[in-house]
Amino acid sequence: MAASFHSGKPKAAIRSNVEPFHAMDILAMANAFAQEGRDIISLCVGQPGAPAPDTALEAARSALQGGRLGYTDAAGIQPFRRRVAEHYNEQYAIELSPERVFATTGSSAGFNLAFLAAFDAGDRVAIATPGYPAYRNIMRALAIEPVEIETDEKTRWALTADQIREAHASSPLKGVLIASPANPSGTMMKPEALKEIVEICEELGLWLISDEIYHGLTYGDATGLEEETALRYSDHVIIINSFSKYYCMTGWRIGWMIVPQILLRPIERIAQSMYISPPELSQIAAIAAFDGKQQLQQVKAGYAENRTLMLDALPKLGFTNILPIDGAFYAYASVENFTDDSMEFAKRVLRETGVAITPGLDFDPVRGPNYIRFSFAGTKSDIEIAIERLGNWSGLK
Ligand SMILES: Cc1ncc(COP(=O)(O)O)c(C=O)c1O
Repeated sequence: MAASFHSGKPKAAIRSNVEPFHAMDILAMANAFAQEGRDIISLCVGQPGAPAPDTALEAARSALQGGRLGYTDAAGIQPFRRRVAEHYNEQYAIELSPERVFATTGSSAGFNLAFLAAFDAGDRVAIATPGYPAYRNIMRALAIEPVEIETDEKTRWALTADQIREAHASSPLKGVLIASPANPSGTMMKPEALKEIVEICEELGLWLISDEIYHGLTYGDATGLEEETALRYSDHVIIINSFSKYYCMTGWRIGWMIVPQILLRPIERIAQSMYISPPELSQIAAIAAFDGKQQLQQVKAGYAENRTLMLDALPKLGFTNILPIDGAFYAYASVENFTDDSMEFAKRVLRETGVAITPGLDFDPVRGPNYIRFSFAGTKSDIEIAIERLGNWSGLK
């Protein structure tokens, strides 16, 4: 009987059994079609079509010429930490000590570090659905329990202080994770709503993690909504941010956290062992990216035009219940007029029109089959061609 302990091949750990990104199936199909020579328009990936700003590219080139790139402090080089702290002064008029800035290998590494430093196995952490799927997947892999709370138009598609209070009363939470603007919805919280969340977390003794990766990409001229950082209301929150979106630097894998004093050393200890340090080259380029604002604002102006095109075309094409696009570069819309299986729908659209879109399943396991996400981070002509093709395909325009 004891032999059964030793029989058979070792298996993958249960913790590895997280959901795959279903959107990757669409991406794989799109790539296969493109290799066959088909003309594919991709509206399925959440990354800018534009390259990093020239200032960043130039800084990286000269760092490469200098030759040696090495490990840095786990929290990043001092000029990086100082420059990010200055950014808070410039952008939000908040004085911040560079000591509280922690460089990360993209915001994705920031989640790992924040979760490991703030939560223990079995802790419950509230997140919104629809929401970015990596939150729940990383939590599950770390044996943290994601508590998925449904949001809808009644709560402006964001968690509210009342929902947090209610979830905590039914079974205690240890933390809350929010994103504003959010992926896939593009919706933003009003500053008052954000303040209430910060306050309820303080009252209940919960960690608040604020994913601010889409800051910089908000359409205040059209929506009247301005972005706000959770740091405005407390020094005890964990801010996660990145150069991937506004700064057009997905492939550089560089981001940052603003960390409360009490978590600095715990995060540093974990980061030393998990990553040693973020890439030095990317830190150098990122510092210079802050000087590329002029170029980045032009990229953003392109998104604003794409956003207008989308908001005009999608209802005419039969998509309904489009969430308010306050920020980011996504339109999230219902496909109830076409199907109740958005995965099959996305595959069919790709096969029949060559336009790749993202099914909602990744973002919302319950209502996702009724939703589709369109990314408009590409060129205006891509968006125009996609709209044209979808119009011809659906017979609606
Ligand atoms: C809301 C949100 N947070 C975090 C990330 C991860 O970004 P990165 O690891 O490139 O910084 C993404 C990527 O799409 C995202 O949409």
